[in-house]
Amino acid sequence: MKCIAVANQKGGVGKTTTAINLGAALSESGKKVLVVDLDPQGNASTGLGIEMARRSVTTYDLLFGSAAIGDLVQTSDTERLFVIPATSDLSSADLDMVGHQRRSFLLRDALRQRELTRLGFDYILIDCPPSLNLLTVNAMVAADSVLVPLQSEFFALEGLSQLMLTIRSVRAEANPALRIEGIIMTMYDGRNRLAQQVHADARDTLGDLVFETVIPRTVRVSEAPSYSQPVLSYDSGSKGSIAYRALARELEQR
Ligand SMILES: Nc1ncnc2c1ncn2[C@@H]1O[C@H](COP(=O)(O)OP(=O)(O)OP(=O)(O)O)[C@@H](O)[C@H]1O
Ligand SMILES: [Mg+2]
Repeated sequence: MKCIAVANQKGGVGKTTTAINLGAALSESGKKVLVVDLDPQGNASTGLGIEMARRSVTTYDLLFGSAAIGDLVQTSDTERLFVIPATSDLSSADLDMVGHQRRSFLLRDALRQRELTRLGFDYILIDCPPSLNLLTVNAMVAADSVLVPLQSEFFALEGLSQLMLTIRSVRAEANPALRIEGIIMTMYDGRNRLAQQVHADARDTLGDLVFETVIPRTVRVSEAPSYSQPVLSYDSGSKGSIAYRALARELEQR
């Protein structure tokens, strides 16, 4: 089992889109995948079609041990792709965790329960909120690696040093084995000189950490969540689907 935190404190860079579609691509290739929605916005849950009626138990209960794993894990319409959903309840988790002795380890402990490991997931993808709060720290403590979506635009690289500092401090204090899985450029417009420049800059600064695969900006990718589907099932042959499959392959080959 490999656990990957999809994180960037910058909002709207493609974390959720990447968690959903990378998850779908991995499951399409035969892997059993769990997406843990760790964002009170609940976008990953919505995008994977988990309607509110199926969100009476959520990631909040996972963190605080108040529900059985069997009740937490929801199926999606994609075969082999499962979700632990979130609601706005999760917005109080950050505060509720503060007084806890193992506050940074709640997610790690929860994901290591026998009831969950028995389900035999090949991948767990954690969709983080746009913040470096205790929720994101929990994700980094629980994860083997961090996957960082970077929007192909001018200020993309700003804020990355803050993220790297957080990763370093998680390594020092709680999870020495934490790796950076890689940086994935999202919403890439190849006709745009600036986007090309940002990709080149990222490669210069960060080298091989930057995936060769880039995710193009396409309408199909942005439409899919409103149909409660990954783009891979909404429009299987689209450029976005092809790109997320390539990302899954590159990730598995690393
Ligand atoms: N490749 C793409 N092409 C077109 N639109 C995209 C693409 N990737 C993401 N988007 C759109 O950009 C917006 C932000 O994406 P997303 O929700 O994945 O970002 P996020 O980092 O999870 O945001 P937040 O920080 O709020 O959680 C969404 O409306 C999404 O549909
Ligand atoms: Mg999101």
